[in-house]
Amino acid sequence: MCGIVDYIGDKQAQPILLSSLSRLEYRGYDSCGIAVSSSPPRRIEAYKDAVRVEALAKMVPQLGGTAGIGHTRWATCGEPSQVNAHPHCDCAGNIAVVHNGVINNFQRLRQQLTSEGHNFVSETDTEVIPHLIEKYYDGNLEKAVEAALRDVEGSYAIVVLMAGEPKLVAAKKDSPLIIGIGDRENFIASDVPAILDYTNRVIYLEEGDIGVVTKDNIKIKRDGTEVSRKEHKILWSIEEAQKGGYEHFMLKEIHEQPKVIRDTLGEYTSSAEPVVDLARIRDEGIESMLILACGTSYYAALVGKYIVEELLRIPVRVEIASEFSYYGQTLARTGAIVITQSGETADTLKAVKRLKEVGCRVVAITNVVGSSASRIADQTIYTRAGPEISVAATKSFTAQLMVLYWLAMGYSKADARRLATMLLGLRQLPSKVQQVLDNEAIILEHAKYLSKYENVFFIGRGINFPVALEGALKLKEISYIHAEGYAAGELKHGPFALLGENTPVIAIVAQDNTYEVMLTNIKEVKARKSPLIALAEEGDEAIGELADFVITVPRVDALFSPVVNTVALQLLAYYTAKERGCPIDFPRNLAKSVTVE
Ligand code: G6P
Repeated sequence: MCGIVDYIGDKQAQPILLSSLSRLEYRGYDSCGIAVSSSPPRRIEAYKDAVRVEALAKMVPQLGGTAGIGHTRWATCGEPSQVNAHPHCDCAGNIAVVHNGVINNFQRLRQQLTSEGHNFVSETDTEVIPHLIEKYYDGNLEKAVEAALRDVEGSYAIVVLMAGEPKLVAAKKDSPLIIGIGDRENFIASDVPAILDYTNRVIYLEEGDIGVVTKDNIKIKRDGTEVSRKEHKILWSIEEAQKGGYEHFMLKEIHEQPKVIRDTLGEYTSSAEPVVDLARIRDEGIESMLILACGTSYYAALVGKYIVEELLRIPVRVEIASEFSYYGQTLARTGAIVITQSGETADTLKAVKRLKEVGCRVVAITNVVGSSASRIADQTIYTRAGPEISVAATKSFTAQLMVLYWLAMGYSKADARRLATMLLGLRQLPSKVQQVLDNEAIILEHAKYLSKYENVFFIGRGINFPVALEGALKLKEISYIHAEGYAAGELKHGPFALLGENTPVIAIVAQDNTYEVMLTNIKEVKARKSPLIALAEEGDEAIGELADFVITVPRVDALFSPVVNTVALQLLAYYTAKERGCPIDFPRNLAKSVTVE
């Protein structure tokens, strides 16, 4: 989704903006642009187009200026085009603005401004902002920005650059914005990887904050009063945010999973304190749990339902965050968890706010320290996945599962022997996942086969049903093959009509109470002539006789099978997409962090 990066300091802004914009590419975008305040002559020089950052860098001449703003756009209001790309300027071309979010009342503002003589060139909602600032400017940029934002309804993270003004003015409402602190230079960005090359000292702007940033000063105001905001030290290294020799971020992130499991577990197993005060479940008479999330995090939540119900013996509801606003929820005696890698997904944040309004205590599981979710929730549990750059989530899913296992085990009603076995199983998981990764060459062969088809079904049962959903999501988002995840027993209620030689089925065959019936389902599929790839545990003799191909995964406790199975399916999706020549890390039309509803 849209990204922002801005610079003010002693150095030339242009190269910093362009290299930082390339660090934002992972968010997904269709256009990009930069504006630099040149001196002398004092004017704004803006270059933008519906192109990749690399192409933009080639078309921009050398600009002289030490303050500038940059943007990657993911079109919402107006098609991807040169005029709709950011930065947007006022009539005189003195004020340039980059914006993430959506201005809901822009049509009305635009009509009003047009009647007052302002001339609009784009179809975007953003363009009203520089015009409003121009209208209110009487020598004080900060005050003009404040006045403009009073007219605006919607969500925004904006940064304003004005010719001749040695400062950047930033404002945030419902869309993330950070200030990076440097030495005689400062940065503003939508997220951390954009500025990690230059600094790991960060301030997170809060709702309603307006920041005035010069090369050696940061002033933050809210409702006209100066406020102080805590500085955070980012522990992610720049190496973590780079490919490190892998062809794609996705492949690197898949391979990082043994370490991610160790790091996330290590974080909590080494602590004497409980991860989260689930004892309050009993104290507050909580009788059920609600887990909310979007995308891959939603599928982690679905696996979480099985984990928590098995180990805590309380009912768990899992809801898609974007649907949560549309039905009457019964939330009495309910404890809520939200799962979000970025901590910035708009639908998830809206759901958290709603939960808090009705008095629910909310625990957030997120990967990003200081993210909006972490600030709104009552308690935050961090996953230790490190920066996830590839749009398709991989290691964050595994880290989320680790937190869920650990949480549920900590408060489990299972007997001590069962828990001891599980703990051992958990500690062995990194090496089990490594075994899946070591099997990469075989998975690649299956991917070559799969890449020739246009429709695929993934089936699973029990705790591996959500794994089928996640496997299908991974395949469709990066290889563009139409893939559907199904509960194996449901295939006969419709999808059977689509089975045949041209529709492979991938069956996740776990060694648990679903095994026998899964074999029956596989026979049903084979009777309809669909090619069948089985994901089965080592030592499963029977499956070889039923399936056309078998991907073997190591044997683990059935409760942990989603981890090894998902890693195998991530590799399958990755190599299928590679075989089809797809842009794996940045799939078309998708964004890493979806900050609009
Ligand atoms: C986007 C990403 C997905 C992610 C989803 C939820 O669609 O492309 O990979 O699973 O958002 O994101 P979150 O940050 O809330 O986990």
